[in-house]
Amino acid sequence: MKTVIVCKSVSHGNTRKIADVIGEVLGARIVDPGEIDAAELGGYDLVGFASGVRYMEFYPELVEFVRGLPQARGQQAFLFHTSGFPETPLRRYKRDFQALLAQKGFRVLDTFDCYGYDTWAPLMIVGGVRKGRPNAEDLAAARAFAEKLRARVTATS
Ligand SMILES: Cc1cc2nc3c(=O)[nH]c(=O)nc-3n(C[C@H](O)[C@H](O)[C@H](O)COP(=O)(O)O)c2cc1C
Repeated sequence: MKTVIVCKSVSHGNTRKIADVIGEVLGARIVDPGEIDAAELGGYDLVGFASGVRYMEFYPELVEFVRGLPQARGQQAFLFHTSGFPETPLRRYKRDFQALLAQKGFRVLDTFDCYGYDTWAPLMIVGGVRKGRPNAEDLAAARAFAEKLRARVTATS
């Protein structure tokens, strides 16, 4: 199963830590959105999209990358992100990104998220929040997610 994870991890490499674990389980190549083009992406059986969150949005580089893709025609995909806080009803960035993937013709099989160390400026008064996240438990949960996903993809392809 040829798998790639398109990962934008800017702040502390939190999302990249999750990508490394999931990528190991799936035998995936991990790339920044700037390192792969649409034609190459089309050659993969499974595509992961991964991002941190900034001001209640996934990183714009990843969103713009997906917006620029042609129709994926049912290509299998998954999504994960790290953030300092749970999504609020005010801005459903995960749901919106998932909708964008669906609009682009991806079949999103599953999603994963966990907390990541957050040093958004006002939070630095207290030294940031979610220190040490993702932690060993988060990485174990990411591994379990990837194992479940791997079984599912194998079963459907
Ligand atoms: C400038 C800035 C803005 C952020 N905005 C949000 C936000 O709106 N919601 C949230 O839950 N986390 C927010 N965070 C926390 C990041 O999403 C979190 O640290 C994430 O794990 C970063 O992933 P990365 O290290 O892979 O880039 C923000 C962090 C920074 C530095």
